[in-house]
Amino acid sequence: MNVNAAIETDPREATRRTPDSSTAKTEAAVQRLRQRLGGGIGSGGRFEHRDLFIQAGKGAHVTDLDGNSYIDYMLAFGPLILGHAPDSLMRAINSSLATGTMFGAACEAELLLSEEVVSVLPCAERVRFTNSGSEAVHAAIRLARAATGRTKVLKFEGHFHGWLDNIYLSVKPLGPQGLSNAPWTARMAAGQPASVVEDVVVATWNDPKGFTDLMSSYGHDIACIILEPYPTNNGCMEAAAGFLELTRQLATQNGSILIFDEVVSGFRLALGGAQQVYGVIPDLCVFGKAFAGGLPIAGFAGNLDLMRLLDGNQVTHLGTYNSNALCAAGALAILRELKEGNGMVLDRIRDLGLLLKDGFNRVFAESGVAMCAEGPGSVITVFAAPTPPTTYRETLSHNARLLAKLHRALLTRGIWAFARGNFMVSAAHNEGDILETIAVMSSIVASGEIQR
Ligand SMILES: Cc1ncc(COP(=O)(O)O)c(C=O)c1O
Repeated sequence: MNVNAAIETDPREATRRTPDSSTAKTEAAVQRLRQRLGGGIGSGGRFEHRDLFIQAGKGAHVTDLDGNSYIDYMLAFGPLILGHAPDSLMRAINSSLATGTMFGAACEAELLLSEEVVSVLPCAERVRFTNSGSEAVHAAIRLARAATGRTKVLKFEGHFHGWLDNIYLSVKPLGPQGLSNAPWTARMAAGQPASVVEDVVVATWNDPKGFTDLMSSYGHDIACIILEPYPTNNGCMEAAAGFLELTRQLATQNGSILIFDEVVSGFRLALGGAQQVYGVIPDLCVFGKAFAGGLPIAGFAGNLDLMRLLDGNQVTHLGTYNSNALCAAGALAILRELKEGNGMVLDRIRDLGLLLKDGFNRVFAESGVAMCAEGPGSVITVFAAPTPPTTYRETLSHNARLLAKLHRALLTRGIWAFARGNFMVSAAHNEGDILETIAVMSSIVASGEIQR
């Protein structure tokens, strides 16, 4: 086996995987990897597609080691907003590499990127860059605690804010979760200290009364309220009318900092993220993923009063690789392309996603299968239930077995989506990809194989 062999086939022209395709080389490479790489996967989130071994990606397509191609709706968990290896990003990376990779000091790409981010994110007067969304969340919480002199964080059940100890809580835990209108703060990982639960209060999404009651009880101890303004991690579950506004209002009334985690929604729902779409402006926001089109750079941004606390290291935020020249240059290229034509690229992505959603819903309705698709377009979610959920707890009662079978059936037919039902769309997808995906969904549902 030679996993380093030159890529023989352009992923856009390779043959789509079918249930009969050979995956022998892939299986051998995966076995070899398991001998050396912890858990056989590079991140716990890759568990459901641990038997994939990708050779190359171009546009909206990837090929595995056996030369089978897939239409990619994972987009590496969301970052690849312009698809794989877009020309603008490749050019920016190559030209940046000619002058080095990182300097541990200010550079032109950092300056230009800061200016661009502040110009597009409504809440941003200043920005700081990190290497991942998790780090950016951590920094934003620290800033909020420093600004308020308080410790407690209020988060919503089911919302995901990265894997770090202080906030990886109550996102589909294996153990008990408490009542739906009074959720417990539940730890997610072995090794997480028991003490972390003391600092985090968990509220129910889209429950104005429960949230208001919690703020009445704890409000003056709450340093920050953090939320995904458009939650995608447990389904596309839009905030109920007035709910985001309520978070803004109660944060202000109680002197708590409102943090929007826009790691997924930022630069995807709209250039200015969900805060632009809904017109609710947080004090701080966190972003990543689509912002850099596939390079490891994320960040947090906010109003001057808060971000000024970084002046003179009153609040420290460190990181050897922060806004390194290579990643900053790549993110700048992505941002500039997204900005072209007043965000036309994102409109096109949304329209393609809506086409996919409508097509899926037509297939489900015609076949009578208890499934539906929901979402704003640039990301949609297929639910194993006849209607989309409005609360996180509803998603727990969905037919998980059906969804798992669908994920597998799609994968073996060359359609790579999130195991939890999300489909992310990029600028590199085209109508042909969408229609092919709908046709595959139709044939899977018609065969009855996932319903059995
Ligand atoms: C909403 C949200 N916040 C934070 C994170 C953590 O980002 P990262 O994986 O870059 O650490 C994620 C990752 O999926 C996310 O979806």
